[in-house]
Amino acid sequence: MKKSIITELKYSNTNTYLIEGCIGTVLFDTGWTGTFSAFCNTLGDNKKRIQDINYILISHFHPDHMGIAQEIADYGPVIVITDFQKNYVHSSDGILTKDSKKRFEPIIDDNLKIISVTNSRAFLKSVGINGELIDTPGHSDDSISLLLDEGFLFVGDLNPLYELELHKGTQIEESWNKLLSCKPNMIFYGHAKPTILNEEISETQKESDMYGLVSQIMRYIDRGFSLEKIKKKTGADFVFIEDVNRMYLTHQDVGVQGILDRIEIKNR
Ligand SMILES: [Fe+2]
Repeated sequence: MKKSIITELKYSNTNTYLIEGCIGTVLFDTGWTGTFSAFCNTLGDNKKRIQDINYILISHFHPDHMGIAQEIADYGPVIVITDFQKNYVHSSDGILTKDSKKRFEPIIDDNLKIISVTNSRAFLKSVGINGELIDTPGHSDDSISLLLDEGFLFVGDLNPLYELELHKGTQIEESWNKLLSCKPNMIFYGHAKPTILNEEISETQKESDMYGLVSQIMRYIDRGFSLEKIKKKTGADFVFIEDVNRMYLTHQDVGVQGILDRIEIKNR
């Protein structure tokens, strides 16, 4: 099975992630209420449409992770929860409805897809993603993490690994022990920066970084930025930017992967 493509969608204080499998796409977490238009803009910047998302997973039901889940779901994506998250789906509704300035749509229970962590692998496989959901209480009782077989781990608000010393003997440590026994390569947090855990990640991560860089360069080209300006913005090598620019402009409808393939052939 092909590797998943990870796109970080940063449009609020929460890091949210689009995970594209070879059959469908999952969104991991959403932002606080009031961020729906920023979400749509960020999707657009990444050349994605809301209709491309099949499912939404929520790491836990705090307002900064589920605030716009239903607004997104109104366009088709289905919110998927684990059975033990069921009693928490509306735990932030009280806080969110208090703020009358920001639109809030409570999650519609009847439209939820409920799975268990034990059948999460089969569920993810249905969208072409190899991985599983793991219950990781500690930050909250309803917290789940998503671990892809390729080593990418999405933990929501589970306290960062670098703080683990502070949480000895707690549920947080138990959850981390469970996760670390699966040997993840890279951790994606709800708020902190991603962390690479070991060198084995480098090849997979390099590919993913490269993919992100090329798609960023293409977006700047679309916006009419000069190559100099693109270099300033991305910090990428100028010759590389020139290569991407040339291939993008001379190959009609070429995608990020197409450009990466051509650059690889050129460098052989
Ligand atoms: Fe939280």
